[in-house]
Order: sequence, then C-alpha cells, then structure tokens
Amino acid sequence: MVEESFLTFDGKLVDKNFRCSGHFNETLKFMFTRSSVRDFLPKKVSEEVLRTIIEAGLHSPSAGNLQPYSIIRVESEEKKRILAELCLQKFISKAPVLLVFCIDFHRLERWSRLSDAPFTAPQSFRHFWVAFLDVSICAQSVCVAAESLGLGSVYIGTIIESADKVRDVLQLPDKVFPVILLCLGYPRSRPLPQKKLGYNIIVSSEVYREPSDEELLKAFSEKYEMIKVKVSDERLKVAEEVCRSLFGEDEAKVIVERIRSAGQFNPAQYYFLLHYRADMMCKGNGLFVKMLKNAGFNFLKE
Ligand SMILES: Cc1cc2nc3c(=O)[nH]c(=O)nc-3n(C[C@H](O)[C@H](O)[C@H](O)COP(=O)(O)O)c2cc1C
Repeated sequence: MVEESFLTFDGKLVDKNFRCSGHFNETLKFMFTRSSVRDFLPKKVSEEVLRTIIEAGLHSPSAGNLQPYSIIRVESEEKKRILAELCLQKFISKAPVLLVFCIDFHRLERWSRLSDAPFTAPQSFRHFWVAFLDVSICAQSVCVAAESLGLGSVYIGTIIESADKVRDVLQLPDKVFPVILLCLGYPRSRPLPQKKLGYNIIVSSEVYREPSDEELLKAFSEKYEMIKVKVSDERLKVAEEVCRSLFGEDEAKVIVERIRSAGQFNPAQYYFLLHYRADMMCKGNGLFVKMLKNAGFNFLKE
C-alpha cells in the first residue's frame, strides 16, 4: 500500500491526499501513486471488471478512429506459462490476466475487401507508426482504468523477442503483430512510485532547452540514487567486451579501470553496459525485420 507521504518523480513530498502542485482529484491520485506491480494475489479478476477496463481502453483516441489493434485475453494457466517462458520472465505466469496488445491490419484489410476499397497499410510505414501509437495509447488507458478499480499492472516489452512464436501460440493471422503484453491482477504488494526525471529536465518552453552537464548529471543521479551495482569479475568482463566492440581496445581499458577503481558501476554504465548491452541492442535488427515480414508487414523496404 502507498504510505501516508512519499517522494514523487521530481523529489516532491506528496501528502496523504496526493496533492501535487496544488491539485488533487481521483484521477491524479492514481496517476501520481501508480507503480508497476509484479506480485499479484491469486484473486480472480471478475468478468465485469475486466470488460470495464478493456472497454475504457477502446474509448482511447485513435488516428482516424481506425483502431488498428486487437487485444488477446490470456487467462489459462498453460498459455500464461508459455507466454512467461517466451517473454523470459517467470513471474508473468502468476498474473491472473495477461492482455496481449497487437497491431491488427487484418481486420481493416478484410473490411476494405468487403467494401470494394483498397488497403495498403501493411506496406506503409506511416500506417505502422500510427498503429503502434494507437495500440500503445489504448494499452495505457486500460492501465489507468485498471488502477482506478484497484488492480495493478506491468507492461512486458520482451514479447517482441519471440514475436513469431507468440503469433503461433495465439494463432494470430497474417498482419497481426504483438506489440506489448500487460500483466493484470490485484497487487499482493505495490512498490512505492519510482523516481522520474522532473519537469525542468523533460519540459522546455517554445524551443528545446539543453541543460548544463552538471544539471543533467544531477537529475539522473537523483533519479537513480538507488541503483548501486558493485564490481565483480564477471561484470567487468562484460563491460570490457561491450566497450571494446564499441570504443576499441584502448578506451575500453581506460573505462574498465575507472569502473574498477570506483568499485561500482554508475547508473548509465549499469543500463548500457550490463542491462541493455549497447553492443547487443544494435545486433539482431534483422530478426525483428524478419518477424515483421513473416507477419505480412512489408513497409521496411524503400
Ligand atoms: C514499453 C515497456 C516495456 C516494459 N517491459 C518490462 C518487462 O519486460 N519486464 C518488467 O518487469 N517491466 C517492464 N516494464 C515496466 C518498467 O520496468 C517500469 O515501468 C519502470 O521500471 C518504471 O517503473 P514504474 O512503472 O513503477 O514507474 C516495461 C514498461 C514499458 C513502458
């Protein structure tokens, strides 16, 4: 449960009425106190609750109001287990409900064919881009609605790693592609809200504002003050490997030596050397292109 008062994204102490910048209402309360939930009670989400939050999502804005998406509800233990494996995160199978949000051009194509209209969305980057936004906006509306009814949720982005297999498991037709998975359920425990970069760093007026190096470093170190990753031989080896492949031998040695003498990885090093390995992230782009092509999305050619 949320404590009586806590620090918000920009370090402000919010009182038990969840006032921030002087405003307070139920919607803001849920927005300021939310956090991703990965620990769920084994309590069923009723059909009525589930329908309500999904239908709230379907009322989201959508470009041209086309709603180029489908949502697959997964509640069977067997399928949840398989999705948890494919997404490489065990806890997923313990969530009472999984919602897989997919871009769906199949439905629009059928509609166009039945209506003597042309349809080229799967060949169009513009359509893909907008459909990606539409489906993400719908998912976030579902999240907010879920919070308002006492549920917790967490997005799972690793569904993209095995999109091909997920398509098989969920029997997604051509031109339907999984974008994000949402775990839903009643929280057994809810972490305190994570610190976020604050207003002054994220928001500029009229034109983009470049903060000074000091300001930028301060903002990130305040945000990530909890991240402390100690040096180990194994981690240093990974760091050296990543740095060598991106910066060359000499610079890799200098950076690794700095990490060793600091005794810990700073948060940026943690993120881009260890967690989202900067060398690996650019590899395998071809795999994603292939998975999109397999699903009938052909916009990635000139
Ligand atoms: C697109 C996206 C993908 C995510 N993927 C994962 C994931 O695969 N596993 C996970 O545990 N959390 C995932 N998350 C949740 C983030 O880790 C979480 O939002 C972040 O740590 C900030 O914490 P908060 O949501 O409590 O503010 C994802 C969030 C987003 C928006």
